[in-house]
Amino acid sequence: MRAPPQPTPPPLILAPLKGYTDAVFRDAFSRHFSGVDRAVAPFIPTVSGPRVRPGLLSDLLPEKNRRLAVTPQIIGKSAGDFVLVARALLDLGYDQLNWNLGCPFPMVMKKGRGCGMLPHPEKIDAFLEEVLSALSVRLSVKLRLGRIDPDEIFEVLPVLNRYPLAEIILHPRTAGQMYGGRPDRLRFASVLAESTHPVVYNGDINTTADFRRLFERLPGVGGWMLGRGILVDPHLALAIRSRRDRIDHRAERFRAFHDDLIEGYRSKLSGPGHLLDRMKGFWKYFGIGFDGGRQIAKKIHRCRAMDRYTDLVARFFDAGPQWTGLSDGESIDDKII
Ligand SMILES: Cc1cc2nc3c(=O)[nH]c(=O)nc-3n(C[C@H](O)[C@H](O)[C@H](O)COP(=O)(O)O)c2cc1C
Repeated sequence: MRAPPQPTPPPLILAPLKGYTDAVFRDAFSRHFSGVDRAVAPFIPTVSGPRVRPGLLSDLLPEKNRRLAVTPQIIGKSAGDFVLVARALLDLGYDQLNWNLGCPFPMVMKKGRGCGMLPHPEKIDAFLEEVLSALSVRLSVKLRLGRIDPDEIFEVLPVLNRYPLAEIILHPRTAGQMYGGRPDRLRFASVLAESTHPVVYNGDINTTADFRRLFERLPGVGGWMLGRGILVDPHLALAIRSRRDRIDHRAERFRAFHDDLIEGYRSKLSGPGHLLDRMKGFWKYFGIGFDGGRQIAKKIHRCRAMDRYTDLVARFFDAGPQWTGLSDGESIDDKII
């Protein structure tokens, strides 16, 4: 007898990771890996001025985003300034935008942006009223549970429910937690029950086992967002999609992906110092899943010249390192170099 067909999981969405999942990454990722349905781009800040600098939008130019559908994300607290940037993005052809209410960095929150706005549902209300009466756009919101208090979300939710949002993306931690502790699955379930919008789950999906557990316990989720898990294991989305425990990386394919990243950043960033810094950032994650990867990542972290970097990476891939992946329950935060 054939097994009954399994339900198709809702979309898998690449998370915005500033400094990582920009257009160069999204393009290289899509050349070598699959399984992701769409992406939310790392945030661009609002500007208070008559004009949006073209550089602010360059990552979102349609010609740089042909392989993977992307939703631009804006961070800001002034509705007027948001509308200015949003209009420039709509002019590029986008019809969906995301508002960042989830950034936990103290400098950002101090300015009342990101999670800094979560304790003020009345400000969120006024913002949405002004933005959605000025623009015809499908707007989604990405947020955490609260700034310090994980119940702040329950004051914000009735406000969000009043507006025609495309979806809300919830990383169920507070800003104060940053990435510590476990995401709060029970509060996520309450939000899911109370929201009139599709709710996307985000946070610590690093293995297919993580995904399966959440998928079984949270029926009705509107989508699944994967962030750092993809940086460690770019096959993660495909493994989830194809219901395999994991897909081992072959060093040659990972190397080709790596080489595309280098080429992309060489043309985007000015000078070898910036290129080296960018690649060091990636190796904090790339090193985690390969046998011997953490040692190489530590050497890369100390390296001061691009020649040395190239040599280290070549020797690492030439040796054909084995993929070990993350074990169930291992935290990226604990393993990051
Ligand atoms: C380096 C880094 C940069 C991030 N940049 C953004 C961003 O630009 N916009 C945003 O909404 N969230 C950003 N986040 C948060 C992630 O999108 C995501 O919510 C968080 O990493 C939890 O998901 P994960 O466990 O799957 O990584 C960032 C996180 C990290 C670690």
